[in-house]
Amino acid sequence: MEQVAWITGCSRGLGKAMADGLLERGWKVAGCARSPLESPLGHFQSLDVRQESAVKEFCQQAHQVTGAPDLLINNAALVNRPAALWEVPAEEFDAVIDVNLKGMANVIRHAVPLMIEKGSGIIVNLSSGWGRSVSAEVAPYCATKWGVEGLTKALAEDLPRGLGAVALNPGVIDTDMLRTCWAEGASGFPTAEEWKAAAIPFLESLSPRQNGASLTVA
Ligand SMILES: NC(=O)c1ccc[n+]([C@@H]2O[C@H](COP(=O)([O-])OP(=O)(O)OC[C@H]3O[C@@H](n4cnc5c(N)ncnc54)[C@H](OP(=O)(O)O)[C@@H]3O)[C@@H](O)[C@H]2O)c1
Repeated sequence: MEQVAWITGCSRGLGKAMADGLLERGWKVAGCARSPLESPLGHFQSLDVRQESAVKEFCQQAHQVTGAPDLLINNAALVNRPAALWEVPAEEFDAVIDVNLKGMANVIRHAVPLMIEKGSGIIVNLSSGWGRSVSAEVAPYCATKWGVEGLTKALAEDLPRGLGAVALNPGVIDTDMLRTCWAEGASGFPTAEEWKAAAIPFLESLSPRQNGASLTVA
């Protein structure tokens, strides 16, 4: 039977690479991002993961089109503009927390019951090297990605047999997000298209036995 993936933040960067790669492998894919998009996906909705009602509608509609996901990939995220923590404006700090943590929880709240009903599936929460170590000028982002690690391990304890949740550090990839952090310094790293070659087999290999693990795309 066709496998199903739902991916948040699939308009560009790693989300788009995962959507393209899984489609190429014959998966049914549904996804969302804020940008309106001409999309080859089974179901695409333009939404902000901060809006719970929109996330709920996305999950209901995607469920009708593809069925519940075998892979739920919580990828949508923001990074703050590099600055010492006390120089990050309150609105920017709020946006990073709201998208990276509360947005992820919104998706889990409305998608995981459908996966539990189906009795199987893996939740992949995008973490970061900065979810396990830190650097200057990215404290808001680090706070959320360390939060993703804790949220994922606790979620793993909540899940019934047959399901799993993992925190995934994708590595370092030249995307818009990395350019926000490092500008041209990002250009020495693989593109999302190059990263896809390792990421897709890695995603396809995940199993509930890894429930609660912190993993890295090797
Ligand atoms: N690139 C790296 O080296 C790296 C390293 C470690 C971890 N990561 C993690 O990997 C994931 C993907 O990163 P990336 O580098 O691909 O980032 P990116 O290029 O900035 O792409 C982020 C994606 O998320 C979407 N998005 C952002 N805010 C959203 C919102 N409020 N609602 C819905 N969608 C939203 C964006 O689309 P719209 O703007 O259209 O909404 C876009 O599709 C993130 O979780 C990031 O933290 C990346």
